[in-house]
Amino acid sequence: MNASKKIAVAGATGRLGRHVVDVLNEQGHEVVAFSRANGVDIETGVGLAEALAGVDVVIDASSTPSADRDVATAFFTAAARNLHEAGTQAGVERLVVVSIIGIDNSVSGYNAAKLAHEQELAKGPLPVQILRAAQFHELVEVMTQWGTQGEVAYLANMRTQLVAARTVAEKLVELAVHPAPASTVGPFPEIAGPRPETMAGAAAVLVARRGDAIRVQEVSDPANPDREQFEDGTLLPGPHATLAGPTFAEWVEATYPAVG
Ligand SMILES: NC(=O)c1ccc[n+]([C@@H]2O[C@H](COP(=O)([O-])OP(=O)(O)OC[C@H]3O[C@@H](n4cnc5c(N)ncnc54)[C@H](OP(=O)(O)O)[C@@H]3O)[C@@H](O)[C@H]2O)c1
Repeated sequence: MNASKKIAVAGATGRLGRHVVDVLNEQGHEVVAFSRANGVDIETGVGLAEALAGVDVVIDASSTPSADRDVATAFFTAAARNLHEAGTQAGVERLVVVSIIGIDNSVSGYNAAKLAHEQELAKGPLPVQILRAAQFHELVEVMTQWGTQGEVAYLANMRTQLVAARTVAEKLVELAVHPAPASTVGPFPEIAGPRPETMAGAAAVLVARRGDAIRVQEVSDPANPDREQFEDGTLLPGPHATLAGPTFAEWVEATYPAVG
């Protein structure tokens, strides 16, 4: 039986955060769920001190919708500094933060911003546990929407071991409740799905399940400085990763009603 803790979830309305809140509630923890929707801004710090009063552990599942490296870096580095500052003042024990598998050499876009996030977290006074996750099953729909022009969905060539956000949430809660020695130097614990996939292959499964009248085309973008990492398997989990289902196909079947 776990001792119940008071755990704050930043980004509690997001694809990941909502599952973190569910898992914590199911386990009987006291949850402080926040995002800008209830007046707490992790980037500016507004409302953070009040939200963290009496909190033992913070799970940060917040994100910015921007994939621009500079915009996203500004968001994540400010969030890291604000969590350390407000968390220290509130007497928080630890931060548990989610990042992305395979980003060590990322130089562009969102992944480079997440690397800056990890580095900023390492500078603060509170112990931090970082969990690196693979791309979420839930991201496939977003990438498909972003890439659709007319009747074609253009998906970047990307090898990924897609994982359900719920599965990542369970691992984050485990780390929040049963801490490993906190470390901001790698290798970080990793969580990924049961098998390697491609983003385009997963998009094709999704489109077929929904009966969308679009064709998926995998494309390689020579202008992307991180293209090789997307394509050569760098984003796949390491041998120490926790692998857990459901597979993307199982998740799609459970999430989207069959057409016809
Ligand atoms: N998506 C993936 O495939 C994936 C893979 C690996 C790791 N991750 C990591 O998982 C985390 C969550 O990603 P996600 O896809 O679940 O994000 P998401 O769905 O975009 O959710 C973002 C959450 O952050 C909140 N938020 C945004 N700006 C905020 C601010 N200024 N202050 C406070 N809250 C703010 C949002 O709520 P409001 O709009 O109400 O503020 C929302 O609750 C991120 O760290 C991401 O890097 C994601």
